[in-house]
Amino acid sequence: MHETRERVLAAIADGPVSGPDIASRLDVSRAAVWKHVEALREAGFAIASEDDGYALTGVPDFGGPAVAYELDAPFEIEYHDAIPSTNARARELADEGASDVVVLADEQTGGRGRLDRTWHSPSGGIWLSVLFRPDVPMAAAPVFTLAAAVAVTRAAREAGVEAVIKWPNDVLVEVDGEERKLVGILTEMEGEADRVSWVVVGVGINANVDPDALPSEANATSLSAVRGEPVDRRRFTQRVLETFDTVGTDPETILDAWREYAATLGRRVRIDTPDGEIRGEAVDIEYPGSLVVDTGEKRVTVAAGDCDHLRPL
Ligand code: BTN
Repeated sequence: MHETRERVLAAIADGPVSGPDIASRLDVSRAAVWKHVEALREAGFAIASEDDGYALTGVPDFGGPAVAYELDAPFEIEYHDAIPSTNARARELADEGASDVVVLADEQTGGRGRLDRTWHSPSGGIWLSVLFRPDVPMAAAPVFTLAAAVAVTRAAREAGVEAVIKWPNDVLVEVDGEERKLVGILTEMEGEADRVSWVVVGVGINANVDPDALPSEANATSLSAVRGEPVDRRRFTQRVLETFDTVGTDPETILDAWREYAATLGRRVRIDTPDGEIRGEAVDIEYPGSLVVDTGEKRVTVAAGDCDHLRPL
């Protein structure tokens, strides 16, 4: 958000403050204060003008300025009511040299999932892509998928939904004994072997979405369906971004956080990998995100693949 606009909001948050007061605090003209107040009202902020000044009385439910307001993470927000794909837009921004930007949308018309699948993204979800430029080798990039999974799981639990992580990149919740998908993560990157140029972590959260609007083969549900009431998408998005920013990539911290939420560890799994199928018990995760599977004969470390949780025998 425009820096002065942010400061105007901060000034009137505990309201009422007079226009001249704000102008002198921020070292801008009274006309500029008025313009910012009007722009904020247009963006959906409710600002009362009383005899003793302006007071903030309401914040919009969702959108760019709403998420940017009081966000405790160093990202600019680019918001779209509807866009083909936030990952595609974030890649465009990467090509233009941008960094530390979150592309956020209410609806995607061409959402993309892993393995070139379509990702259904109706209005009411939280569809976002975080673009950043970490100073790490390409091989370390899976750790950002783990960080995103931890961030969304923590936010879901804070919102009262007992979400769990399925390796490598799904966040699920159990409904009537069945695991249903709440969130998918698609991480893309570009760079040289020894150094990433940019990373885009795309996170698709079925927030306030009717599960009937999602294809049945996706076996999906939504936060609102599980809670029985809508989730505050503004706060939820902020919590995801704040945790993603602070959970860090220190191997022990991130792996411990992931283990705490993982549904895959201790389960029998079947993993389709480019080199064939692996079956066994998932016993641990290794940096930067490989699953350790005990096949009964040996322990194998699987870097990537499509994982199914098998029912206990
Ligand atoms: C999966 O297949 O499980 C990953 C789905 C990732 C979907 C998200 S929604 C936001 C971002 N934009 C996209 O087009 N895809 C990702």
